[in-house]
Amino acid sequence: MIELAASLLSADFARLGAEAQAAIEGGATLLHLDIMDGHFVPNLTIGPPVVASLRKVSRIPFDCHLMIEYPDEFIPALAEAGADWISVHQEACTHLDRTLHLIASHGCQAGVVLNPATPIHALDEVLPLVHHVLVMSVNPGFGSQTFIHSSLKKIESLAKVRESRGLQFLIEVDGGVHHDTAAGIVRAGAEILVAGSAVFEGDNPRENAKRLLESALLAANGPGQEISTANYQLYRGQPIPYDWIPEGTSHSETPVTPSENSAFRVR
Ligand code: DX5
Ligand code: ZN
Repeated sequence: MIELAASLLSADFARLGAEAQAAIEGGATLLHLDIMDGHFVPNLTIGPPVVASLRKVSRIPFDCHLMIEYPDEFIPALAEAGADWISVHQEACTHLDRTLHLIASHGCQAGVVLNPATPIHALDEVLPLVHHVLVMSVNPGFGSQTFIHSSLKKIESLAKVRESRGLQFLIEVDGGVHHDTAAGIVRAGAEILVAGSAVFEGDNPRENAKRLLESALLAANGPGQEISTANYQLYRGQPIPYDWIPEGTSHSETPVTPSENSAFRVR
């Protein structure tokens, strides 16, 4: 199954809830939240209070990507704020095994991230501990950068390691994911595409997300496939995931008609 994780880094921060909803309506099944500290990467973004605010309007899984020097200090607060998945950089963690256990001890899915310059063998010992491996296909810190093509070989190698060791972790790719790169990423063996600018640049994140996911699904499965989640309901004529509660709406108001999601079939 291919999933789209919409990265809010390229969204309009004055309208985060609405931007997230549009991406979800387009088929995103994860919200990717980039947490930066101005030290590990040369940029600053959001922290637990913003995660907690978003949590109030959505139950979609939050995929928190920590680009910070001391992740252990923020993992409890992020879990409390509503993070579901938390990934930490191999390069930032002196005691990576301990940090991954810390994430799991707070009830979150533990992930590890590799910078473009870090080889996958740096993860040999921790792969059995992780729910997902996030392969950076740009140097982290900013949106709208160019995809580093050597990442494809890295994804392929990681998929082979997963198979040969009989492991189950998911492979997620972050950076420069657009229509022209999505197919190659999926064919290399990744299941989760993180996309920021490809979704939020321009004025139609819903359509952008839908088209990007269609490209990825076509690469993975060929025509006739349905977009990853079957968990749609119709809300004001639009298919949305069950777990999204539109702002200002109580859950009981949203009609549940899961069979009517044919608009999402890939032609
Ligand atoms: C960059 C972040 C990404 C970012 C990707 O450090 O980790 O999640 O939003 O942006 P695009 O999809 O524009 O390359
Ligand atoms: Zn990210």
